[in-house]
Parts: sequence; C-alpha cells; structure tokens
Amino acid sequence: MSDTRQRPATEHATIVANERVAEGVGMVVLDAPRTAAAIAPGQFVHLRIAEGADFILRRPFSVYRAEAGRLEILYQVVGRGTRVLAEAAPGVVMDLIGPLGRGWWVPEGVAHALVVAGGLGAAPMGMLVEELARLGVATTLAHGAPTADRLLARDLFEATCRRTEVATDDGSAGTCGFVTALTDGLMRKARPDVVYVCGPEPMQRIVVAQAAAAGIPCQVSLERLMACGVGACLSCVVTTVNGRKRACVDGPVFDAAEVLWDPSEDPEAGE
Ligand SMILES: Cc1cc2nc3c(=O)[nH]c(=O)nc-3n(C[C@H](O)[C@H](O)[C@H](O)COP(=O)(O)OP(=O)(O)OC[C@H]3O[C@@H](n4cnc5c(N)ncnc54)[C@H](O)[C@@H]3O)c2cc1C
Ligand code: FES
Repeated sequence: MSDTRQRPATEHATIVANERVAEGVGMVVLDAPRTAAAIAPGQFVHLRIAEGADFILRRPFSVYRAEAGRLEILYQVVGRGTRVLAEAAPGVVMDLIGPLGRGWWVPEGVAHALVVAGGLGAAPMGMLVEELARLGVATTLAHGAPTADRLLARDLFEATCRRTEVATDDGSAGTCGFVTALTDGLMRKARPDVVYVCGPEPMQRIVVAQAAAAGIPCQVSLERLMACGVGACLSCVVTTVNGRKRACVDGPVFDAAEVLWDPSEDPEAGE
C-alpha cells in the first residue's frame, strides 16, 4: 500500500470554541487551516496545551471532524493537561503538530462497514463515518456508553450512518449492557465487509475476537502513552506479529489481525 500521508508540521492553532458536551467531556474547535486541509480520518494531532514545565510533553488527540480550516476535538478531562484545556477560552493560541500517525483505510470493494464506538472511542469516528458516506459505503454504527447522556457524537452518527444500534450500561438508551452484546449479532447477520473499532481496550479485544471468528477484516485504533509523537522515543510500542511497532507513526490504527494483545506472545521478548 503506498503511503500518501501529508508531512506533519507545526501550526499555531487558535481556539474558536470550547464547550462541555457531557460530564467530564469537552469539544474544542481550533482554527488550524493547514492541518485541517491535510488530515485524514483516524490521524491525530499533538497539542502543546500551555507553556511551562508541566506541558513540555504534548498531548495526543484524535480529530473528530475537520472542516473549513477548523479541527474539532472531543476530549475527556483526565489530568493536568486536559483540565487546562477545558478552561481554555476562545482566542487562546496553542502550538500543534499534525497530521500525525496512520489513520483508518477503506479496503477495495467495501460496500458495508460496521463502525464500533465505545465511550471516548467516538472521538476518531466522526471523520471516518463522513468519509464512508462520501464513498457511498453503507455504514452500521454500534454505539456504546455508560448512560444515554454519554453517547458522544450521537447526532452526527444518526445523520450519517444508514443504521445505528445503541447500548448503554444502565439501559437509559438502546439495549441495556455492553455494546459488544450487539456487535456479535451485527457481524453474523449483517455481514459487513470491514469492522472499525475504538474504545476501551477490553471492549476492543472482544470486538476484534468477534470479527476474527466471523472472518471479517477489522481495524483498531490503539491509544498508547506518547511522548514525542513522531517515532523517536519508543514510548508507544505495540507488539505485533510483524515485530514491535510505534503507535504514533505505524498507527494508531492497526490491522487487528496484526496486534498481539498479550505481551507474553511477543516474538522478540527475551532477545
Ligand atoms: C493517538 C491518540 C489519540 C487520542 N485521542 C484522544 C481524543 O480524541 N480524546 C481524548 O480525550 N483523549 C485522547 N487521547 C488520550 C489523551 O492523549 C490523554 O487523555 C491526554 O494526553 C491526558 O493528558 P493529561 O495531561 O490530562 O493527563 P496526565 O495523566 O496528567 O498526562 C501526563 C502525561 O501522560 C500522557 N498521557 C496521559 N494519558 C495518555 C493517553 N491515554 N495517551 C497518550 N498519552 C497520555 C500525556 O501526554 C502527558 O504527557 C488520545 C491518545 C492517543 C495516544
Ligand atoms: S511517541 Fe515517541 S515513538 Fe511514539
């Protein structure tokens, strides 16, 4: 497969909006025309959130949507950086590197895709479902969250996908339970040509196993701790059947059949 990725570059990105969209989750809109024009679905940006020792390391974020020179990023507040991000007002300028990584790809001949988004796993799926719609691919979305008000990006998914199936842990929307209870049936009955998954790792593993059992190719977006974001520090290593890979440049999206989830399976361990 030829690599058509745009080269990453630094850009000064100005916040144009920053709003809370759910408990502990915000959406920041950045004016970043160069990156917005170059980024592909599933790629990410590395943000220097503020000046100072705590922020020397940039924070990686997927791009939910890119339109009209702007990047939309869904973020969960988890630590110091995302707390500062949540407080940042329109007009604040952040240093950004992007586009980074290897995103989702649409294999030749795909007519029907199953997209599985769990919780914050919705974050890299906005651009993907829009691209699938643009290509005329019929998309079924399996969408999971703890409660109805944590179903991120619901409006976009319902407007863009042919079919959406919802599961919430408390039953406040859709089926009561984990989204993985829906995906098995969707794969066996609807027989998608490809499965795309992002969400908590236990959920990803189940979906990957279901896709393997059904014989359907599957792509997975893996979140790893990242320091440099450009392939130099090896903090983001993923063990694969083809050796150790760096999530920041070889991923974050991987062919699920390549990933060895259990480090004990690492063929290079002990070398
Ligand atoms: C490719 C990729 C895409 C991501 N996309 C999103 C997204 O769209 N929305 C979202 O909410 N979160 C996303 N994350 C996770 C997000 O990067 C972390 O939640 C964030 O860096 C935490 O920063 P913090 O300062 O608040 O937390 P702290 O825990 O205070 O961070 C301390 C350090 O650890 C690093 N770090 C902490 N957690 C992570 C993590 N999960 N992944 C990588 N580095 C981490 C930070 O960069 C920072 O250097 C993504 C992670 C990766 C690898
Ligand atoms: S984050 Fe440095 S190699 Fe991936």
